[in-house]
Amino acid sequence: MINVTKTYLPNKKNYQKYVDKIFNSGWVTNNGPLVKELESRLAKYLGVKNIVLVSSGTSALEIAYRTLEIKDYAITTPFSFVATTSSLITNGIRPIFADIDTKSLNIDPINIEKAITKNTSAIVPVHVFGNACNVEAIDKIAKKNNLKVIYDAAHAFDVKYKDKSILNYGDISTLSFHATKLFHTIEGGALIINDDSLVQKARNLINFGIENTESIPNLGTNAKMNEFEAAMGLCMLDEIENIEKQRERLYFTYKKELDGVVRFQQQNENSTLNYSYFPIILDSQEQTLKIQKALNSKDIFPRRYFYPSLDTLNYIEPKQFMPNSRDISERILCLPLYPELTKAEQMEIINIIKAVY
Ligand SMILES: Cc1ncc(COP(=O)(O)O)c(C=O)c1O
Repeated sequence: MINVTKTYLPNKKNYQKYVDKIFNSGWVTNNGPLVKELESRLAKYLGVKNIVLVSSGTSALEIAYRTLEIKDYAITTPFSFVATTSSLITNGIRPIFADIDTKSLNIDPINIEKAITKNTSAIVPVHVFGNACNVEAIDKIAKKNNLKVIYDAAHAFDVKYKDKSILNYGDISTLSFHATKLFHTIEGGALIINDDSLVQKARNLINFGIENTESIPNLGTNAKMNEFEAAMGLCMLDEIENIEKQRERLYFTYKKELDGVVRFQQQNENSTLNYSYFPIILDSQEQTLKIQKALNSKDIFPRRYFYPSLDTLNYIEPKQFMPNSRDISERILCLPLYPELTKAEQMEIINIIKAVY
């Protein structure tokens, strides 16, 4: 069976070495030495100032909203994984959607401006499939309207914009380190915080809001990363360059073979790629389902990612209609892309798509 992705497991002996360390120290969670080591190595590798590791990409978003005290309404994209929107709602913030640009698949700054009201407190864009948003336009809008910006950068590990980490844009960027991601810690995530004065507040919030043994000034939660997860991250980091290289090779094979057959996501010219996803855009939903069925019949499972468009969720209030996002979500497929995918397997996928198209 070929799935859209496959968890990368790093060298077992290397992981074992860290497990031995954990067993020797007996320190398994609560900001342990491996969490600290991973924070410092990741900050250097990614080129960011402040990184706070947490238990998931979803908790990273939630902690970001609480750190910045986001209230009332936030403008976000309807074309994302459900957690971008559901994390707002579970924190008492109403999502107001701004439709996407159908080429980049990212939130369109023009639509952000149109959606702003006196109750808007933040913008939550997503670098969809690692493709950098129009960060300069978004930052300009945010400054002009005094809004906070939280980038959901779950897909944008190691993406550079004009030679610097894309994660340095906005007030906070969040990452997901779920097992399916390019870089993972089994479950996990991170906040990249640009204002130094907010880092300690975020650290308190992931530990129940506790400041010290006698003071709990903020409403917090438990969003801590544990030592076994940090150990996985340290092992992944040892192999990350090789992982990216293998993904790059597969990415360009798809690009070359499917060029002129299907449509691709238009990449931001000022940013690098991390080769985490390979979305293809087809002519219609009917054609999309036909290709999916043909691949499924050979035990190949691409993913309708993202589907459905988030403005169709039954718990969204007020009701909204985002035509671009709905249109794209009905005719997009993410193809299998992971280091272990063989050349023969990839060619089988390509040939099925070409035959059905
Ligand atoms: C865009 C986006 N945001 C947030 C998340 C949530 O991350 P996690 O699964 O680590 O909670 C994901 C997960 O896939 C995602 O794709």
